[in-house]
Amino acid sequence: MDILAICGSPRKHMTTHSVLQAVLDGAGRSHEIIWPAFMKIGHCISCQACKYKTPGKCWQDDDMTAALEKMFEAKALIIASPTYFGNVPGPLKNFIDRSVPTCHTGKGETYLAAEGHGTRPFKGQPAFIIAVSGGADHEKAAANIRLVLDYYEYAVVGEFAEGMGGVVVTKEEFPDIYSELFALGKKFCQAIS
Ligand SMILES: Cc1cc2nc3c(=O)[nH]c(=O)nc-3n(C[C@H](O)[C@H](O)[C@H](O)COP(=O)(O)O)c2cc1C
Repeated sequence: MDILAICGSPRKHMTTHSVLQAVLDGAGRSHEIIWPAFMKIGHCISCQACKYKTPGKCWQDDDMTAALEKMFEAKALIIASPTYFGNVPGPLKNFIDRSVPTCHTGKGETYLAAEGHGTRPFKGQPAFIIAVSGGADHEKAAANIRLVLDYYEYAVVGEFAEGMGGVVVTKEEFPDIYSELFALGKKFCQAIS
């Protein structure tokens, strides 16, 4: 699988999914979409076990184990999200928090920006941000996603952040938006080795 796409919406076939699909169409690479809202993911309790006790592993036996394996398998990442109060929805935030063991597997280069923050196995891998909203604060959601990707030292090579007013993007109904997204996906594909 070349691209792992994390879709933060709890609604399949709605705005976020349709935007993501158009970008994936343009990228034309093998991909998998995972949906935190439909996964069993406990929240991070900051016990630090993944750092000190069982480095790189969380004690919680849930759907994050397989999801983190997919992150390691993929060559590139897309995080796609609706905007909820200027941020990402809870299930996606939960997913992000529970991804922290990836810093403690020992894989990748040491994180230099702060001591004791482990290594960065995804450093330099291409990433793409999608944040949609009803009409406001999508750029804040996008900025929050960017913070996470920057922390993990992904190379953010594309972003689509827009107020969409609830539309579902299809090639037939919204050809201009679809073409824009398709072109962004194509550009994203060029950054994937
Ligand atoms: C709990 C909640 C909070 C929301 N907060 C915002 C917001 O801050 N700004 C905004 O423009 N739209 C907001 N929306 C609207 C969604 O961002 C918008 O409908 C988006 O397209 C939903 O994506 P989806 O169709 O993939 O579910 C909110 C919706 C919900 C359910």
